[in-house]
Amino acid sequence: MSKARKGMRLGTSEYKQVAERMKAIQEQQRRLIANMRRIRFKVAVLSSKGGVGKSFVTSNLAGALAMRARRVGVFDADVAGPSIHKMMGLPTGYGMMARMDGTVVPPEVPPGVKVASVGLLLPRDEIPLIWRGAIKTSAIRELLAYIDWGELDYLLIDMPPGTGDEQLTITQLIPKLTGFILVTIPSEVSKSVVKKAASFAKRLNIPVIGIIENMAYFRCSDGSIHYIFGRGAAREIAEEYEIPFLGQIPVDERIREANDRGKMFFLEYPDSEAAQAFLEIADKIIDIVENGKAKVPGGNVELDAG
Ligand SMILES: Nc1ncnc2c1ncn2[C@@H]1O[C@H](COP(=O)(O)OP(=O)(O)O)[C@@H](O)[C@H]1O
Ligand SMILES: [Mg+2]
Repeated sequence: MSKARKGMRLGTSEYKQVAERMKAIQEQQRRLIANMRRIRFKVAVLSSKGGVGKSFVTSNLAGALAMRARRVGVFDADVAGPSIHKMMGLPTGYGMMARMDGTVVPPEVPPGVKVASVGLLLPRDEIPLIWRGAIKTSAIRELLAYIDWGELDYLLIDMPPGTGDEQLTITQLIPKLTGFILVTIPSEVSKSVVKKAASFAKRLNIPVIGIIENMAYFRCSDGSIHYIFGRGAAREIAEEYEIPFLGQIPVDERIREANDRGKMFFLEYPDSEAAQAFLEIADKIIDIVENGKAKVPGGNVELDAG
């Protein structure tokens, strides 16, 4: 046998390592599937870019669904920039309880939402996680294999911003995803953004539950309404693509303030317009999801490469 040929072959110990690694991944996948079977609806929350309030919307929507007597969990799949735990009142480094059998118990916050995030495991915020794509995927697979959610009605998955390869890989890890929710702000609501998300969903053959327009307007103390980021064409565009429009969340300085203080806005200001909007959006989602109304975007959405 030539040297070159020999060099390509795995030695017995390497072969064993690869085989063990594959066995471990298979075992994780088996656990992941068993865990996901105990969750009725798995919903991934997407946005085209960061900073549009995806994590804020995901966390407060989880609160609203819990107020509607649903058993809810939130999974932070944005492992490079985990933030959702803080918006739900848990500090970075809070931890997750590990059992002897290796499973992990996600902490539960009022009004009854289970939270799992890499942020709970990091000692401090300033510590960056510099993980390449493949490592991120295996971290997410491992977390989903060992987090014991118990029985849930809804698992909301806070995705990393964008609709590219990373989001695609995460989506494919989760069997029988119920659908996507898209979060946008008015200035971002261009046709191309919605079209990109719709074609992403179509490519994966996954329904879109609807669009939420965050930072839609600002209501002054005198009652007048200001469309700071432009008057959203979200509703019309959603209609054009036959995607349900779920509702608008206003700009409210108390949102940023509550998030900075590490409090869940929804619970701190239950009478605010934004908190009421979350309840209405939750009712729409419950109707669409639980009555099987969510659809894969229709034939008029072209599949583009992006
Ligand atoms: N409707 C809103 N009104 C005021 N501040 C908001 C609103 N939505 C989000 N924010 C603030 O904007 C910032 C970005 O929100 P975040 O949820 O972290 O965005 P993303 O997850 O999309 O990157 C946070 O400081 C948050 O408190
Ligand atoms: Mg975020």
